[in-house]
Amino acid sequence: MARKILVTGGTGYIGSHTVVKLQESGFDVIIVDNLSNSSIEVLDNIEKITGIKPEFEQFDLADKEKTDSFFSRNSDIEAIIHFAASKAVGESVEKPLLYYRNNLVSMMNVLECQIKYDVPNIVFSSSCTVYGQPDVLPVTEQTPRKDAESPYGNTKRVNEDILSDTAAANSKLKTIALRYFNPVGAHKSALIGELPLGIPNNLVPFITQTAAGLRDELKVFGDNYNTPDGSAIRDYIHVVDLAKAHVVAINRLLSNKNKSNYEIFNLGTGNGYSVLEMVKGFEKVSGVKLNYKIVDRRAGDIEKIWADTTFANEELGWKAEKGLEDMLLSSWNWEKHLRKIE
Ligand code: UFG
Repeated sequence: MARKILVTGGTGYIGSHTVVKLQESGFDVIIVDNLSNSSIEVLDNIEKITGIKPEFEQFDLADKEKTDSFFSRNSDIEAIIHFAASKAVGESVEKPLLYYRNNLVSMMNVLECQIKYDVPNIVFSSSCTVYGQPDVLPVTEQTPRKDAESPYGNTKRVNEDILSDTAAANSKLKTIALRYFNPVGAHKSALIGELPLGIPNNLVPFITQTAAGLRDELKVFGDNYNTPDGSAIRDYIHVVDLAKAHVVAINRLLSNKNKSNYEIFNLGTGNGYSVLEMVKGFEKVSGVKLNYKIVDRRAGDIEKIWADTTFANEELGWKAEKGLEDMLLSSWNWEKHLRKIE
């Protein structure tokens, strides 16, 4: 019998790629998603890639009764990957309570059910946002966290604390927080990828939508940072590399290879690219000239960050394999598939 993994938020961007990798590694997957920021068709597209349609239930994990009922009916779940969360930084500033309810209450409901129904293993989606603008680069897992710049960022920080405090008080619970740097790219089939609602906030979807003619111009937020070309630097990581890291983390927990019951790993490539390097890189792989303009810095943005990946490489035995070209080309192929561009 294949081991069953619950993937919350499994129809979302990182979730759907992780479901594919779990299925390809022989796991059974059950997805819970409220479809607030994703589409039910993702299930068919996962099936087109792997030949297996994952089990699916639609409800909100912030609803305690529904969450409890779900766990009471699914006693064969051995581990959880908890992606389900709201993730728009700007919206979180406008609607902080929505973010605290969606992101914190759902985490607490899941953990309470894990203890009640004896599901020991959980992998949580955290973010490099917890480091703020670090004083020293690259950042290791020991780099001190900083006060969050937004309610969204704060939910990542507080959820890490909820996880570590709960793990400390419950010796049977085994938890891993994965701190993602900037996920980009799409599955090579172009059947799944990022589906931003409305105007994208993130750089790569904005680039591909501009190239596809949905947006008039890309705004480059700031060219007076203390970086070689003046634009801000991030550690972009291919979503398929990220998905593979989740399978490794799940295997680590299921085989009791974890060294403590709350572990943290940085998931990045260790390479930083500037916004202008991303723009040039995209033009090169796509052959499309981008209409862009330098504008003021965006409020709340940091200047630069990239990961020290030593701990993840050595302790997880995982390394990001895909480079910038693959990240940008797969993003472009996904956008072209969506817009039916040849
Ligand atoms: N950028 C532009 N133009 C755009 C969009 C982005 O120049 O239209 C720049 C940003 O200013 C930044 C870089 O591209 O320098 C990357 O921006 P993204 O919005 O793609 O990513 P962020 O690094 O801002 O966001 C990431 C995560 C969030 C997290 C945030 C914390 O995606 O989940 O870091 O600041 F909250």
